[in-house]
Amino acid sequence: MQLNELPVTGPWGERHLLGLETLSAEQLGTILDLADELRERTENGTRRIELLKGLAVANLFFENSTRTRTSFSLAARRLGADTVDFTASSSSLSKGETFIDTARTIEAMGVDMVICRHRTPGAPHLLADHLRSGVLNAGDGTHEHPTQGLLDIFTIRRHLGRIRGLTVALVGDIRHSRVARSNIHGLLKLGARVIVCGPPTLIPADIRRLGVEVAWNFDEILPEVDCVNLLRVQFERQRGAFFPSIAEYASLFGMNGDRIRRARKDVLVLAPGPINRGVEITPEVADGPHSVILDQVTNGLLIRMACLTLLARERKTPEAGAA
Ligand code: CP
Repeated sequence: MQLNELPVTGPWGERHLLGLETLSAEQLGTILDLADELRERTENGTRRIELLKGLAVANLFFENSTRTRTSFSLAARRLGADTVDFTASSSSLSKGETFIDTARTIEAMGVDMVICRHRTPGAPHLLADHLRSGVLNAGDGTHEHPTQGLLDIFTIRRHLGRIRGLTVALVGDIRHSRVARSNIHGLLKLGARVIVCGPPTLIPADIRRLGVEVAWNFDEILPEVDCVNLLRVQFERQRGAFFPSIAEYASLFGMNGDRIRRARKDVLVLAPGPINRGVEITPEVADGPHSVILDQVTNGLLIRMACLTLLARERKTPEAGAA
């Protein structure tokens, strides 16, 4: 099958996927619908569909990852592309090569799309300015993680049939979470009500300007929510203490069996992972009937296949030169 034979039902027109903030509701719908189409044609992404045959995709990860890196690699291979996996710790960065020179070196091997994770907000945007390749943001510092936001939204839509009119709570470390920001932009554009909840120290003071509601008490909002997305406490990004103890955090903001019994009977429990069992979620809930955590992982493959396909349709050929 050729790229242009796959039905794309809505608008796209983007060479890069850097965040959900700048996409329209219609463009988000295009990605979600294409992921659904790919699910039907590939049995959840387990069968190959050679839409990217002859193209090469590079994973440039300057931060650790299990889910995102693996599923982008698998998504590219299921689409028939060649893949290059770059690991910062064993690269020539240690000899003084710059971030941009590193990316341009890998691009010069004939790469068509670059997936970038970096601890610095805006790093993928910098690559988009300097490369010919399409750039996909796989998480930039505390800024955005667009494919995680998309796969969370896709998972909710698959389970509940819609996004518009739902109440979604994002609970936990909002301050350091790029997943929170991508969820907020995507969910609001698609018509959900979004409540962010956590300790005041972990919620930015100006978060309401994004259009969300703020709650400090998880138990108060619990009966209202259709979905709870439990965001990991990002100890690695925190400088200083944001709450007195992990036990206190877990008792006030953790999802546990008692809270599940007080929530709506069909409440959906999501977590982008990796999860800290016993902190933001207990094993009873993580492995229980409300949890869709592993569905999120499965759906991540479809969302990344959809994003790679859409960017491939808009790519510049090597002859066209750098942007
Ligand atoms: N959710 C997420 O981005 O997980 P990884 O860090 O394992 O990729």
